[in-house]
Amino acid sequence: MFARDMAAALTAFPKSLPCCYFYDRLGARLFEAICELPEYYLTRAEDEILRAHAEEIAALFPRSTELVELGSGSAAKTRLLIEAFLRRRTLKRYVPLDICRSALEETSSDLVRAYPTLEVFAIAGEYREALHHLSATAGSCKLILWLGSNIGNLERSEAGRFLGQIRDTLAPGDGVLIGIDLRKDSAAVEAAYDDAGGVTAAFNRNLLARINRELGGHFDLRTFQHRARYDAEVGRVEMYLVSDRRQQVAIDHLRLEVPFVAGEAIHTENSYKYSLAEIETLAATARMRCRRTWFDSERRFSLNLFTAGELAR
Ligand code: AVI
Repeated sequence: MFARDMAAALTAFPKSLPCCYFYDRLGARLFEAICELPEYYLTRAEDEILRAHAEEIAALFPRSTELVELGSGSAAKTRLLIEAFLRRRTLKRYVPLDICRSALEETSSDLVRAYPTLEVFAIAGEYREALHHLSATAGSCKLILWLGSNIGNLERSEAGRFLGQIRDTLAPGDGVLIGIDLRKDSAAVEAAYDDAGGVTAAFNRNLLARINRELGGHFDLRTFQHRARYDAEVGRVEMYLVSDRRQQVAIDHLRLEVPFVAGEAIHTENSYKYSLAEIETLAATARMRCRRTWFDSERRFSLNLFTAGELAR
């Protein structure tokens, strides 16, 4: 998969690498470090919302509820919800899904240690695999968690389509809780994706390092510069790795020589930001309604509850 996708991406024009490959063991750790950065407001803002409203959210699901989390990572913020549901004795089980198997294993065993009564059913894989699991679930209510503005890494149309597929797995009383970063001024967004300490740059370059490690690549990381720019009109941050010189990079296992001209960019990620109107449109595209939106105190970030029907009483 990785080899095939990299070969396709590096021989395309313009060059563009799928951002799901950021998250090998090192990439997952670098992302955790990003979440701690002063510039990366997203994690703190969402955490603030969950601290203020986890009880209220849990109260909206008074029956036995399964929490299913897409892209669970370290599940640090999810603990606030898990604890709120545990206090109400309404948590049936927690189902984390993540592409990074090592992060998933670590998180699951940490959670079981912290909450001995908690049942955890972990799924290593991509979002599509969650859909398969969701259709098979029966019995209790489901609250699907899609936190951290992970939705922002999908194209807007893809996000709507994927939520539409999720919607088809929902029963009355189920919900989808989505953390979505909001449109805002360029300076704050660009700082979040180009921090002074260079952690995001290291996270971005880790894609090339991963090709070196896993595919016998010969990228000299010092010759690729991290670039993040916010397109305020489109409402997205674009991340690139820019070759600072003309060069040819061999990737042994792919039997490939990849040419770069000076200044040529590899597009590595888009991160979409939403307006409130765009969130409403997203819900409508997925044939759902946005029932509630919570904000942090600076209104930088939003947590949104989408449902297909009425919530249970
Ligand atoms: C995982 N995802 C929501 C992050 C984001 O903000 O788009 C990934 C990231 N890329 C650079 N910094 C963080």
